[in-house]
Amino acid sequence: MRSHFCGRVDETLNDHCISLCGWVDARRDHGGVVFLDLRDHEGVVQVVVEPDNAEAYTALAGASYEWCLRVVGRVRPRVSANERLRSGRVEVLAERVEVLNEARDLPFALHENPSEEVRLSYRYLDLRRPEMQHMLRTRGRLIRALRQYLDGADFQDIETPILTKATPEGARDYLLPSRTHPGAFYALPQSPQLFKQLLMIAGFDRYYQVARCFRDEDLRADRQPEFTQLDMEFAFVEEHDVQGFVEVMIRQVLHEVAGVELVDPFPCLPWIEAMRRYGSDKPDLRLDLELVDIAEQVADCEFQVFAEAAKAADGRIVALRAPGGAKLSRKQIEVYGTFAARYGARGLAWMKVKDRAVGHAGVQSPIAKFLNAAELAAIIEVSGAEDGDLLFFGAGPWQLVSEFMGALRLRLGDDLGLIKEAWRPLWVTDFPMFERDRDSQRLLALHHPFTAPKVDDIEQLKADPDKAVSRGYDLVLNGIEIGGGSIRIHRAAMQSAVFELLGISKDEAQAKFGFLLQALKHGAPPHGGIAFGLDRMAALLVGTESIRDVIAFPKTTSAQCLLTGAPSPATPQQLRELHVQIEGGGDATAEDPP
Ligand code: AMO
Ligand code: AMP
Repeated sequence: MRSHFCGRVDETLNDHCISLCGWVDARRDHGGVVFLDLRDHEGVVQVVVEPDNAEAYTALAGASYEWCLRVVGRVRPRVSANERLRSGRVEVLAERVEVLNEARDLPFALHENPSEEVRLSYRYLDLRRPEMQHMLRTRGRLIRALRQYLDGADFQDIETPILTKATPEGARDYLLPSRTHPGAFYALPQSPQLFKQLLMIAGFDRYYQVARCFRDEDLRADRQPEFTQLDMEFAFVEEHDVQGFVEVMIRQVLHEVAGVELVDPFPCLPWIEAMRRYGSDKPDLRLDLELVDIAEQVADCEFQVFAEAAKAADGRIVALRAPGGAKLSRKQIEVYGTFAARYGARGLAWMKVKDRAVGHAGVQSPIAKFLNAAELAAIIEVSGAEDGDLLFFGAGPWQLVSEFMGALRLRLGDDLGLIKEAWRPLWVTDFPMFERDRDSQRLLALHHPFTAPKVDDIEQLKADPDKAVSRGYDLVLNGIEIGGGSIRIHRAAMQSAVFELLGISKDEAQAKFGFLLQALKHGAPPHGGIAFGLDRMAALLVGTESIRDVIAFPKTTSAQCLLTGAPSPATPQQLRELHVQIEGGGDATAEDPP
């Protein structure tokens, strides 16, 4: 049908007769002559239809945005060149125009910026836009480069089941009722975690997969119910083997795909230090601001909130400097208080430092009256405040204060324009093995329950699980967790002990993970691995905040596909076959076909 791509026509083709296929990107009528911009995946070229070409002219009578055309014509130099386009010095004088399809009642013009709801409802039109094409093509190049790298390093690409048994990664499972086993369900995998471990036990040594994962969790800009991982596993390794390998891979691939330069080696922070200095387990190092602990300086002060937090075993008091922030109005400062409250803060004290040399007379703060001269001087000293700065203070439970002050740090960085243009990778390591559920106080796995603890001794682990550190590691890039992994438990006794600590009974462990416990007893090698969120990596590379932009057909934050209407009701017959009854009688079901 076509001899060339629109976007690739240039002066080397002058005087050639070519045929093009594409969509009408723009139409201009000038004194009887029709100028069309014809667009395909490579770009646009100008097509000229002169009135004396009656047939072509008539064919184009109603042609407008997004009509699908085939044009046969001759390339000639253009009178006024458009240097921004590869095809900008030429145009195609149409000899024949064929309307392949009309486009009527378009919900939006491609040059407009409609709401995301409209974009997702007509995603095929949205995806025709060059910026969307660019984003998805970059994603494609990223995946291709990673595959090539791993194929070259002798990794086996192995597919694992989608219809499977629950693989816990901390989210709810998507369940599928079985027709042939009444009352039984398949789970969609939250990740290929257990299968990749079984592949190591099976002796494949190095595995990878571009794997779809399914998690029924609260969605945000960086979370989708189905997303794609680059999943990897290695046998006979320790942390530094996995981290060393993937560090070289990521550096090389991001350079190849997007010209990104990453430092060598990547810096590494233990989790506790990341929380202490940045209030986050995924610090954005493009921002220099750090949280500063001031419990020592205010332990005996008269401000009860501070004094109590300083004495509490689990308390924390943090100062955060907003450079130049003394010029903010009360109203502006209040906005930050409201922001911190969204993260659970009970309050957000502040202090404008106008002249640090003169003590109380040089500051303005609702808490200054509770501080004596020495306390005030000490706070200003440790926080590093300069004249003209604003200090924010958070006090309360350690985890909570870390989190809201960490969020405030990012918000200030954004508002004050302090986030540098840079690529800043970071390994976060030494995570706690467990965290406590806020309500039930039960232990939960911080990564997943197959992550090995640093201590090899089961009794030692059981003695103080709250203090146990795991062999997990996350890779963070510019404040986004792009990957996470660990060295795994490879002995059944340790795996059983961890299940027990997580409150999983022997019977439940057997029912859910019996196959794993058994496999671990059949000569499982030490192994470990990592999985990268490909959607997040692609989003970072193209500079978009939302992973929806790098997923061809994403779901909304309420997990719907606006294009197809999924999820949608099932017919009564389908439900009967699946042995499923809808609570309340099933008013959401479709009708059986006649
Ligand atoms: P984890 O749960 O940390 O680890 O996931 C690995 C990476 O996947 C990405 N990711 C997501 N991306 C988009 N939407 C989501 N809902 C979503 N959830 C996670 C993140 C994350 O770093 N089996 C382990 C890996 C291992 O231990 O080897 C796992 O899945 O970028
Ligand atoms: P109050 O005496 O309660 O009005 O508080 C005085 C100042 O302390 C106000 O600016 C509050 O926002 C702040 N404040 C109250 N509780 C906290 C807290 N837990 N952490 C930090 N600041 C707080």
